[in-house]
Amino acid sequence: MNSSVSEASLELDYRELDRIIGEDYQNDKENLIMILQAIQKTFNYLPRPALSYLAVKIGVPLSQIYGVATFYSTFSLEPRGRNIISICLGTACHVRGGDRIHETLVDQLKVQDGQTTSDNRFTLESVRCIGCCSLGPVIKVNEDMYGHLKPDEIQSILGRYE
Ligand code: FES
Repeated sequence: MNSSVSEASLELDYRELDRIIGEDYQNDKENLIMILQAIQKTFNYLPRPALSYLAVKIGVPLSQIYGVATFYSTFSLEPRGRNIISICLGTACHVRGGDRIHETLVDQLKVQDGQTTSDNRFTLESVRCIGCCSLGPVIKVNEDMYGHLKPDEIQSILGRYE
């Protein structure tokens, strides 16, 4: 599998991992979920070598760590872009034109849902409801919410992110 080959050669910052696992969470397996959240925040996803390292450090079988990492949808085992775009395809956004926003994003980013642009700048993810239905159609870029969107606003929004 190509992704595992490239991940094997990925330069992981083990000092940063040690800081998270050892200093912030005392190598304590009780903190597993919080450690995974911190690793994901640092690397934007959960690199497999980091999970192997974590397993040894906190003395938890790797299979158990994968079990947790795959159970929660907020965790990603695949590399993600520097900016995560969530496009809402829920009913309220759909009836207000969410599909056109989705099409515009797919068109401008040249990726499908779940994919990352070749320059690693954006990952596009569709979600069912972000909880701001009255603002529909909405997208969220990282923590920024954009509502009442029109397709011609997408380009300038994307331009705000490196
Ligand atoms: S349906 Fe889009 S935010 Fe709820």
